[in-house]
Amino acid sequence: MQYPPEPFRIKVVEPVRLISREQREAALQAAGYNVFSLKAEDIFIDLLTDSGTGAMSHEQWAAIMRGDESYAGARSYLRLKSAVEDIFGFKYFVPTHQGRAAENILAACLVKPGMYIPSNMHFDTTDANIRARGGRPVNLVIDEAFDPSSLHPFKGNLDIAKLKTFIEKVGAETIPFGMLTVTNNAGGGQPISMENLKAAAAVYREHKIPFFIDAARYAENACFIKLREKGYENKSIIEIAREIFSLADGMCMSAKKDAIVNIGGLLCINDEKLFGNVKNELILREGFPTYGGLAGRDLEALAVGLYEGLDEAYLAYRLGQTAYLAARLNEAGVPTIQPAGGHAVYVDARAVLPHIPQGEFPGQALTVELFREGAVRGCEIGSVMFAHPDPETGQMVYPKLELLRLAIPRRMYTQSHMDYIADTLANIKSRAESIRGYKFTYAPELLRHFTAQFEPL
Ligand SMILES: Cc1ncc(COP(=O)(O)O)c(C=O)c1O
Repeated sequence: MQYPPEPFRIKVVEPVRLISREQREAALQAAGYNVFSLKAEDIFIDLLTDSGTGAMSHEQWAAIMRGDESYAGARSYLRLKSAVEDIFGFKYFVPTHQGRAAENILAACLVKPGMYIPSNMHFDTTDANIRARGGRPVNLVIDEAFDPSSLHPFKGNLDIAKLKTFIEKVGAETIPFGMLTVTNNAGGGQPISMENLKAAAAVYREHKIPFFIDAARYAENACFIKLREKGYENKSIIEIAREIFSLADGMCMSAKKDAIVNIGGLLCINDEKLFGNVKNELILREGFPTYGGLAGRDLEALAVGLYEGLDEAYLAYRLGQTAYLAARLNEAGVPTIQPAGGHAVYVDARAVLPHIPQGEFPGQALTVELFREGAVRGCEIGSVMFAHPDPETGQMVYPKLELLRLAIPRRMYTQSHMDYIADTLANIKSRAESIRGYKFTYAPELLRHFTAQFEPL
């Protein structure tokens, strides 16, 4: 597969170094075989997340110098306001320090104990913010999302029949709002079609349920629609984005993804009364509504980044880079979730290490091996993250998939980095039988993947 040439050239560089095999081994031991505990400077290529890790452009850095740090009514806020209104078209908005702050405010205003919030799949911070208010997040993605080899072009779609049945079962009055996450991060970065967005919006509207979009990767989703959905080939990305948001009553967004900034978020809504409550919550927790926990310079970088994230040449390169890495891995016999997602490639760890049972963490073993072999950091998305004992039987319930996620920061790494990652995983594959599993030496009850410690078996 052809690698798309980067639509930029490099003006500032940040050196990275490849430490020796012995140093990598020592670093792993010191980190208790948990890559979250490694020092970032010991990592050669860091694919832990694409959130807040992208490279800002010269225009964004220049905009930072124009930051107006006035507490209220700053020039930078007005610049951001004009970009947000132009792209998303909602009546009201507030900036927040990141996506989960927007989710927290929305949940504080609308979720009451026992209420349900359906979505294709909630991201974990959205899920946790709903639960923190006593609500119940519900995932209704189509079944194809769980089949790693299915080539469905929109594997992030919400199952409309499941949504209708669910609303009938629990009653619309128990649903303060419905959601859709575009693209579906928890489900492999897979996109949602415009047809599905329209169908979901129509069901929510019919039941008078406000519809919110989790818009973290909306630009990548819009690009997938342009590439894969009939009738959208000749529309511009910004037109597609505007059509997406015209279907909704509001949105939460982590700007650390498709707005290519290191920090920032947005909460947009159409309902005036709700906006009053949102502002009160924001003032309590984040800051005045014209800065919402950000500095003026952050608002400037965000206003510029929103447009750069929609640039068609950039998006073609971005999705092309992810697809290239997946293709190189597949050529080397390393299976990945198909088709490649927008922001990340998900390696099927059970297929690479079939001899390691789920109780010995094949995803973790592959994640550790990737650092040991090449000082590349990925992230386990499997039993370390999700296995839990059944509350009734006490039996361990394992997730359907054991994955190693390679999330690609925006505008950061080049083709030779992608080749290096693919070669490293190909080397691991060639000696896969010799790789063994892990056991916990420490694991907290909640969100254990962040701080757990391991020992090789
Ligand atoms: C889909 C989605 N929603 C929300 C969030 C939360 O955003 P933040 O990390 O800015 O709080 C993320 C972060 O990864 C995400 O991927």
